[in-house]
Amino acid sequence: MSKHRILTGDRPTGPLHLGHYVGSLEERVRLQKEAEVFVLIADVQALTDNFKNPEKVSANVREVALDYLAVGLDPRLVTIVVQSQIPEIAELTIFYMNLVNVGRLSQNPTVKAEINQKKFGSEVPVGFLTYPISQAADITAFKADLVPVGEDQLPMIELTREVVKKFNRLYGDTLILPKAVISKHSRLVGVDGKEKMSKSLGNAIFLSDSVSEVEKKVMKMYTDPKRIHPTDPGRVEGNPVFIYHDIFNSNEDEVKEMKKKYRSGKIGDVELKRSLADEINNFLEPIRLRRREFEEDKKKVDKILREGIEKARQVAGETLLEVKKSMGINYLF
Ligand code: TRP
Repeated sequence: MSKHRILTGDRPTGPLHLGHYVGSLEERVRLQKEAEVFVLIADVQALTDNFKNPEKVSANVREVALDYLAVGLDPRLVTIVVQSQIPEIAELTIFYMNLVNVGRLSQNPTVKAEINQKKFGSEVPVGFLTYPISQAADITAFKADLVPVGEDQLPMIELTREVVKKFNRLYGDTLILPKAVISKHSRLVGVDGKEKMSKSLGNAIFLSDSVSEVEKKVMKMYTDPKRIHPTDPGRVEGNPVFIYHDIFNSNEDEVKEMKKKYRSGKIGDVELKRSLADEINNFLEPIRLRRREFEEDKKKVDKILREGIEKARQVAGETLLEVKKSMGINYLF
């Protein structure tokens, strides 16, 4: 069997955090050895709701690339793609726009939720409403058959599949029909106990946080709100400190012991948190070191990005040519 082709990506609106790590980065690092992986820094998509301050997007393109390299994505195995540098994606988007109805777009639950959150009211930018179509172009341009994403992205993959089927039906078999792969931890609770770690909620531990930043955030973490004294029996289930211990503390026996003590009121929150801060810092240390190495070698990162773009344009260019041929507009004037 030939290798899978995988495409996935992130909007560069801030540095990546532990939620990104457990939700997708870890999986990508694993997959890079067995599949052909493209990771997209989706700056064009990020601009659809940040067009008033493009510097928020442009300043984060390199940061996200550094996060990718820091967690161990290996540029010899993975192609890092800066979306705005691949005009072929924009061209594909234009052709796909004919295949999608306005009604279908406005029903997309993820887009609908975002429109509410961002308070666009009746002034929804066309670019925002149509970003799922450009996401279909991202995926098909690279002929991806698998797209690892969080659950909120399922409507995008569904739309991509509709576009592919319609295109192939109208113009002949051309595009690859992709499948979503949902990661097992698609979201990580925030340090405040809210459902999802996110930069905009201010409850994230970033991969680039220093030792003392991690300590500060962990010591303030939300635990069991009903527990007042360290001698009160505490609740382990749903307690963010234990959720993180389960993920980041490699010493399972220690975690088991702490849970037992917590349930019977024999360990305080402070001790639990100190231990967690140490574990997260141990986990982040190699990531920090690698990040620093790449930060100091700007030329190397530039080269990685340049080569990624070059490879991506080649692949997307082939797809675009096939698309134009199928549509009969590859004129040879
Ligand atoms: N929409 C994704 C997000 O907000 C980012 C993204 C852009 C993406 N293009 C993609 C994800 C293609 C998977 C495939 O996180």
